[in-house]
Parts: sequence; C-alpha cells; structure tokens
Amino acid sequence: MKMKIAVIGASGQLGNDVVAAFSANGDTVLPLTHRDIEVMEIDSVSRVLQEARPHVIVNASAMHHVENCERDPQKALAVNAIGPRNLALLAEDLGAILMHVSTDYVFDGAKNSPYVEDDAPNPLNAYGTSKLAGEIFVRHAAKKHFVIRTSALYGTNPCRAKGGLNFVELMLKLSKERDELRVVDSEFVTPTPTAELAQQICVLSRSDCYGLYHATAEGSCSWHEFAREIFAITNTLINLKVAAPNEFPAKVARPRYSVLENRTLKRHNLNIFKTWREGLYEYLGQRVKSRPVRMSS
Ligand SMILES: NC(=O)c1ccc[n+]([C@@H]2O[C@H](COP(=O)([O-])OP(=O)(O)OC[C@H]3O[C@@H](n4cnc5c(N)ncnc54)[C@H](OP(=O)(O)O)[C@@H]3O)[C@@H](O)[C@H]2O)c1
Repeated sequence: MKMKIAVIGASGQLGNDVVAAFSANGDTVLPLTHRDIEVMEIDSVSRVLQEARPHVIVNASAMHHVENCERDPQKALAVNAIGPRNLALLAEDLGAILMHVSTDYVFDGAKNSPYVEDDAPNPLNAYGTSKLAGEIFVRHAAKKHFVIRTSALYGTNPCRAKGGLNFVELMLKLSKERDELRVVDSEFVTPTPTAELAQQICVLSRSDCYGLYHATAEGSCSWHEFAREIFAITNTLINLKVAAPNEFPAKVARPRYSVLENRTLKRHNLNIFKTWREGLYEYLGQRVKSRPVRMSS
C-alpha cells in the first residue's frame, strides 16, 4: 500500500535520504524542514500535522552537536525530548505511525560487546540524556511507534549539526592538506550510511512490529580503523598514525564503545544492513583513485 509520509528534519543528512527512499518507494512524501515545523512547539507540530494527516511521521530532526547540548541542556531537552513527545501526541491523535531516530549515545560504553535493545541505557552526557528522554516519551505516548537507535552516520548530504563535513569527507579533506594524520583508536562505533538507514526505515514502516530497534551497519571499528579503510579504498597517500592517549582530550564524556547489535530487526527478519566496509565502499564508489596507500601506526 502506498502511504503518505511526513519527514521532519528533511533538510538534514539523514532526512534527505529518508525523503529519497520513500519517494523511490512510490509513497507521497511531505518533506518538512525547520522552516516548516518547530518540534519544540506543540502548536506548530499540531498545525502542520493536523493539516497533512500523514500515515507515517519520520522524525529525523535533532539537536545532536554533543558540546552544544552540554552547554545548553535545556534546549537539548526541548528539541530531543519535548519535540518527540509533541510528535508522539500528534501521531496518537491521528492514528499515525511515529518512526523516531535515536542514538547509540544512550549507552555508557562499559559493556565492551555489542549492545542489544534489552541492555540498560546509562547516558554519559546531556545529548544522550535528552535523546533517552525522547525515546521514553515516544514509547509512552504513541502506541504505533518505532524508536530506531543508530550510530556514526555519514551520507552524501551535509550533516547540519556538525557544520557539513561527515567523518569520511573530513578525512579526505585533511589528507589533501597534510602528509600525516593522527586518529584515535580507543573509541569503537559502527559507521552507518544514511542511505542504508533510510532504506531500513522504509522497510520497517511496512511492518506492524512496533517497538525499539537498533539499526546500524554490521560489524564495528575504531575511528582509526575507519580512517584506514577510507584511505585504502580511495588509494590515498597519507601517513596515518594512532593518536596518543589524551592527544585530543574530549570536552564532553562519550561512550568508549557504543556498538549496537540489530537483534530485533534480525528476529523479525527485517535487517537489510550490509557490513560497514561494504557500505563505505559503496559510498566511496565514485571516488576511487589510483594513488598508492602508505600507512603506519
Ligand atoms: N550524525 C550522527 O552521527 C548520528 C549518530 C547517531 C544518531 N543520530 C541521530 O540521527 C538523526 C539525524 O541526524 P543527522 O545527522 O541527519 O542530523 P542533521 O544533519 O543535523 O539534521 C537534523 C535536522 O533537524 C532539523 N532540526 C533541528 N532542530 C529542529 C527543531 N527544533 N525543529 C524542527 N527541525 C529541527 C535541522 O534543521 P536546521 O539545521 O535548519 O535547524 C536538520 O534539518 C538525529 O536524531 C540524531 O540524533 C545521528
């Protein structure tokens, strides 16, 4: 069945790809940017969604610059918790499905093996706390909800919160400016292409298995390993080194290990993710050059 989909945060890195995925599926898509809707304000949310009356609301909006959230935790809560609550109230009113995107940063990273949906969250910072509060509001206020936690996104559209450059683009830019790069190998994530996540959201929207989902590419790596793979695939000549401990001291506490296992997607036979390496290879497909790679650690 073709559906009407309202995408909140449609100008963002993920939002753009969500719009593309549902459009390619033949659905009617209403892309809503920050100009069209203010999630913090119930009046704005109500006016826009009452008029649109979508079958599905995808929330890809957030305040997710970690340092900004720490500086202004009230705004982080307003955008990341009250915002989703407002959307959940409207979804419930309209009988719509709410698909809300959350984060691996709800965990503290102490587990050291992939987190499953049943693991207890314990956020280390204001961003993670505000996103966890958003999840709780959604799960309590909207019967037909999907809460979708993901990790380390990158895509062809700029990340609005991080000034435009994702990690892949940043590494490639720096490699043109420097002969040597130092990257930490003490933080473990699963780099996930937004195009794949958007496709997964589209697939999930067709199921009625509502609930909490982990949704990342398969496998995991440190940021250093991710950088090494980026340079290897693109044959980039760069002296890549492991940054010394405390070389880049974090301003805000972050989980050291925030790898997620897509256990619920797999249980429902709905997991479409490839490995993070395959996803990266596809993303970089256009960029492969013939320069030899020189690496050391
Ligand atoms: N990026 C990552 O590595 C990562 C990792 C894990 C989870 N996530 C989650 O993935 C989701 C999408 O992230 P992204 O990288 O696509 O972010 P993004 O590029 O920064 O996009 C966020 C979008 O939300 C909009 N927005 C912000 N505040 C709003 C408000 N108060 N009302 C309405 N719209 C608002 C922004 O519009 P303006 O820019 O015009 O304000 C922007 O279009 C978020 O939920 C984030 O928490 C991201």
